[in-house]
Amino acid sequence: MSQDTTTASKPQLQKTNSISSGILENGSAKVVIEHLNAFYGTKQVLHDINMAIRDKTVTAIIGPSGCGKSTLLRTINRLHELKRNARVEGRVLLDNRDIYAPDVNPVVVRRRIGMVFQKPNPFPNMSIYDNVIAGLKLQGIRDKAILDPIVERTLKVVGLWDEVKDDLKRRGTELSGGQQQRLCIARAIAVEPEVVLMDEPTASLDPAATAIIEDLIRDLRKQYALIVVTHNMQQAARVSDHTAFLFNGKLIEYGPTRRVFEKPEQSLTEQYITGRFG
Ligand SMILES: Nc1ncnc2c1ncn2[C@@H]1O[C@H](COP(=O)(O)OP(=O)(O)O)[C@@H](O)[C@H]1O
Ligand SMILES: [Mg+2]
Repeated sequence: MSQDTTTASKPQLQKTNSISSGILENGSAKVVIEHLNAFYGTKQVLHDINMAIRDKTVTAIIGPSGCGKSTLLRTINRLHELKRNARVEGRVLLDNRDIYAPDVNPVVVRRRIGMVFQKPNPFPNMSIYDNVIAGLKLQGIRDKAILDPIVERTLKVVGLWDEVKDDLKRRGTELSGGQQQRLCIARAIAVEPEVVLMDEPTASLDPAATAIIEDLIRDLRKQYALIVVTHNMQQAARVSDHTAFLFNGKLIEYGPTRRVFEKPEQSLTEQYITGRFG
């Protein structure tokens, strides 16, 4: 992790609006989204998004289906551009460096900013062990003396070690849904990312597995900046420090979770969180 503490590394926030800078009162930003627009073909689905996200916090992105939550998440680690006709304008700064700058390798961005998807997606026909180390193998690391401790450590972090340690050769897809999702989180953190994005990570899980993942999110927060899309407002309230409410591709409100839920500044936010639409 490259954490420069000099003032020179402070993100330049003069261009971000008051919605985002309010989050930063007691610290600097890990990720800054500046004037971000996203398109599929000629259809614009994100409009001038500005957000600053601090390290070691959980940020929830909420909003009705189709409002652009997944698209926003995918612009943060350059997955958006892999979709057909997809395009981005604006900047996303990671440690004050624009990840869309021409000299930046998107593969490196995606290693530093990991992703966990809605449906657990362990690589099929691959053991639990091989799933955890898949990203490291891509980096050319093959030494078992290096990989074994990483597998143990990451599976412990996600609370899966005791459940699987005697059978690491089992296929990842044979685990339960909740275990599979924890395996995917282990795979995401094995490459030591700095930011972890999660797109509705519990949407396909039962309440018990959901509670385990929520505990894990709160735990991971000690080490990473986490950005979690959820359509479950109780979940946002339970796990996040800051909440962003997105509607029709626009950032309507962004602030400390408690404030957003208890005293929303925008009437649209209030209507949404009180269940009047969405
Ligand atoms: N690959 C795509 N091609 C064209 N339009 C898309 C594509 N993916 C999403 N969209 C559209 O972009 C908008 C935002 O979608 P999305 O980011 O998936 O919203 P959410 O995650 O909040 O449900 C929606 O109108 C959706 O139909
Ligand atoms: Mg989505």
